[in-house]
Amino acid sequence: MAAQSSLKAGVMGWPITHSLSPRLHGFWLRAHGLDGSYTALPVKPDELRDALRALPQNGFRGVNLTVPLKEAACAIVDDMDDTARRIGAINLVTVGTDGKLFGRNTDAFGFAQNLLSSGFSPHRRAACVLGAGGAARAVLTALADMGYRELFLCNRTPERAASLARELTTQHCSITPLPWADATSVFPRCDLLVNATSAGMKGANDLDIDLSALPADATVTDIVYTPLETGLLRRARQRGLKTVDGLGMLLHQARPSFAAFFGPDPAVTAELRAFVLEGLS
Ligand code: ATR
Repeated sequence: MAAQSSLKAGVMGWPITHSLSPRLHGFWLRAHGLDGSYTALPVKPDELRDALRALPQNGFRGVNLTVPLKEAACAIVDDMDDTARRIGAINLVTVGTDGKLFGRNTDAFGFAQNLLSSGFSPHRRAACVLGAGGAARAVLTALADMGYRELFLCNRTPERAASLARELTTQHCSITPLPWADATSVFPRCDLLVNATSAGMKGANDLDIDLSALPADATVTDIVYTPLETGLLRRARQRGLKTVDGLGMLLHQARPSFAAFFGPDPAVTAELRAFVLEGLS
């Protein structure tokens, strides 16, 4: 069918060669028997405006954006959703029937779905987030939307935590910045600890934060997924705490993009995880 072969999408970033998104969307395209395409598109920051504006004439349904383009896209799209506005970053651009570009952010959705699909449900009032970069913005937004009323935010550079806490605190959810050394003092009140820093990634130092003050029924999750079990998650597991790795966030954040580009809401399955993991080795 001619209409099906016109389903074109991709991911823009710089560099883009290591992106797992083509593998992930390719798996779902085959699983759904769709004749669409999803390609890696190398785009430098100063080329982003032209590249996005060219999407309609090139027949694209939309694109995902990754590092370092997510923030700059906010000034380029015609409109964006509330989540993208709060996070200050766009990872999904769709092309409307009128050719207008609409920005969305699905990272908060991916984070929340990864946690919820592991069986997690918030049962205390507080959670603690480590890190104050782009990933932390998506995590804090997701946790506020999950109903947390109190979040603690710790970052190696305290000024970044203080300014992010000010920006994202709302009437419904207060975010308290804490010095890095004081993180463990709030652990007894938390049902969730999130590593939203890049520490623990292959080649980087692990976070050696003491987990002993977390309640026995707390969950620890990491946004880092290379390695799949970071040092933090290993120590949490050894302490008997529930752990949720970061790969699921990557898989779940892609679901709304696939639905926007190609139609179906795809499933995150063990087969998909195994297939994407193969791409990491
Ligand atoms: P991203 O957008 O992926 O979150 P980022 O904006 O570079 O990336 O933020 C990286 C985060 O990891 C920051 O919170 C950083 O702390 P600083 O703000 O102090 O730089 C944190 N980070 C990186 N390496 C770290 C380490 N070894 N220990 C603690 N925090 C670390």
